[in-house]
Amino acid sequence: MGMSRWGSVLALSGALATSAYAADAQKTFTQGGTNPAAIACSTCHGADGTGMPAAGFPRLAGLPAEYFAKQIADFRSGSRANPIMLPIAQALSEDEVQALASMLANMPGPPVKPINRAQAAKGLGQTLALRGAWDRNIPECVSCHGPGGIGVGASFPPLAGQSAQYLVSQLNAWRQKTRKNDPDDLMGHIARSLTEAEVEAVSRYFAELSQ
Ligand code: HEC
Ligand code: HEC
Repeated sequence: MGMSRWGSVLALSGALATSAYAADAQKTFTQGGTNPAAIACSTCHGADGTGMPAAGFPRLAGLPAEYFAKQIADFRSGSRANPIMLPIAQALSEDEVQALASMLANMPGPPVKPINRAQAAKGLGQTLALRGAWDRNIPECVSCHGPGGIGVGASFPPLAGQSAQYLVSQLNAWRQKTRKNDPDDLMGHIARSLTEAEVEAVSRYFAELSQ
């Protein structure tokens, strides 16, 4: 066996070793994935991952890794239908998804004002958030999304730190059934039970917790 053969074996094992390690998440985030259709995330989600509120692009920084990976899978399957994220999700490799998931979970989200759940709830948004509307089977949002809407565990994403525009768009997506990726239609039931004024008010309430 000649040297060149050993050379290529070594080069191959080097390549395998590299792919066995996480993809370069920082590079994927700021320059795009190996497949050019995986456009650099920072273009829309911001260099620090805190999103672009006016454009309705959500924050990704601080999202639980499992929730993040689930959303990518849901964009691909169409259970969360979005024409911008579909081709991007399809173009990411599993390795890139896992690497991005752990990098983003470790990036700090925006600071959130502490709230006291026992405080008197004033106004439409805060009342829904802290008390729900049990006469319509709507539990208070903080019972799943955590005190102050900071998110809980792997499955309940933060609401604080997202813009009102984005939160409204997601509640409307559930109302219109373009987003139907939640277990047991938990969010679908809630979103469809809210009035338009309530969607606006509760979204503004959570968005303002991070300002
Ligand atoms: C051209 C703009 C654009 C680019 C580039 C982009 N996104 Fe998005 N992203 C969006 C929009 C718009 C949404 C909201 C989709 C919706 O309404 O369901 C979104 C939503 C998401 C969500 C859901 C967040 C949540 O809180 O549920 C994830 C996860 C995500 N993007 C990951 C990525 C990753 C990873 C990249 C880079 C590989 C990326 N995006 C690149 C526009 C973009
Ligand atoms: C019974 C638990 C539960 C309650 C109560 C609840 N949610 Fe959710 N919510 C979820 C789950 C689970 C998800 C994530 C679904 C998925 O996997 O995409 C979610 C996701 C969301 C999202 C999407 C966040 C993102 O980053 O895309 C919004 C917006 C939202 N909820 C708003 C609300 C509001 C407003 C209320 C109160 C009126 C509320 N939720 C009450 C369980 C709940």
